[in-house]
Amino acid sequence: MLVLGLETSCDETGVALYDSERGLLADALFSQIDLHRAYGGVVPELASRDHVKRMLPLIRQVLAEAGCVPSQIDAVAYTAGPGLVGALLVGAACAQALAFAWGIPALGVHHMEGHLLAPMLEPQPPEFPFVALLVSGGHTQLVRVDGIGRYELMGESLDDAAGEAFDKTAKMMGLNYPGGPEIARLAAQGVEGRFVFPRPMCDRPGLDFSFSGLKTFALNTWQQCVGAGGDHEQARCDISLAFQQAVVETLTIKCKRALKQAGLKRLVIAGGVSANKALRVSLEKMLGDMKGDVYYARPQFCTDNGAMIAYAGCQRLQAGQQESLAISVQARWPMEQLSPL
Ligand code: KG4
Ligand code: ZN
Repeated sequence: MLVLGLETSCDETGVALYDSERGLLADALFSQIDLHRAYGGVVPELASRDHVKRMLPLIRQVLAEAGCVPSQIDAVAYTAGPGLVGALLVGAACAQALAFAWGIPALGVHHMEGHLLAPMLEPQPPEFPFVALLVSGGHTQLVRVDGIGRYELMGESLDDAAGEAFDKTAKMMGLNYPGGPEIARLAAQGVEGRFVFPRPMCDRPGLDFSFSGLKTFALNTWQQCVGAGGDHEQARCDISLAFQQAVVETLTIKCKRALKQAGLKRLVIAGGVSANKALRVSLEKMLGDMKGDVYYARPQFCTDNGAMIAYAGCQRLQAGQQESLAISVQARWPMEQLSPL
């Protein structure tokens, strides 16, 4: 089964062709980062308009790269939520229109299920069951995964998502959007131990997270540094390092707890923050100590992309999932509402 996948939930237009027999044939991405940078974050209306502009050229590009023609495509999968409604509607309308014109089905895919399944595109995919840490700009969740659509939420952020905390901390130090890669870059030049940030909610049982206090801690530290004068560039690096260490250690502690609670030794990390090198190193060490394994996608499939949507859509379509021609998207959509395969 050959599936065209379209991703437009936020500020990236992603298109890919996935074949159930041959694997990923082609994928292309247009990132709107330069468009939104001047505003310090994503402007939803600009995002929607740009998806309209990029979508068809990207589809043509992917078809050409894969050496395919539309008549070979069996179905179109698109992100139906959660995300920015205007942006989601562009992908949904495009997918439904193409599917109608080509006489094939279209299927709405859950964005976080896409992220969760992205490591399946790698040469050594994880087997079910496993614990998944979903860490993106909008979500921080620990999920027990027993199969596709068989999700049990174990814990989640009570306030900011991990990626959001990276972005906000970066912004208040005058760094560019998105902040995660910027903080990671500066942290590499930070002085170990100059600042120590708290590990929120680790001193009590449970698997929930809270990252907004960490962001405030970073703001206070930054303001003290600015007030005291001196080398702001080094202060940025040192705060970035302390912040990243706090997020990474907090996530590692909670992942260890979740694995213990689930009685499992397989951990999957997915979503934009799973591209973070320090997080990968820390989780690999933790899983190494407990003789388990950690799985993640290549960096470009950690952040938003069309390949994960094509893959997730293909699994559901092959299982017989069908959908009407309605163009319907959801800004909020708990993953536990998905049907099991
Ligand atoms: O999954 P994603 O592309 O979009 C959402 O679904 O939200 O995640 C984007 C988030 C942003 O907050 C970005 O700052 C963060 O992922 N991110 C990172 C890194 N790369 C992207 N955070 C930390 N370290 C990174 N290397
Ligand atoms: Zn995402």
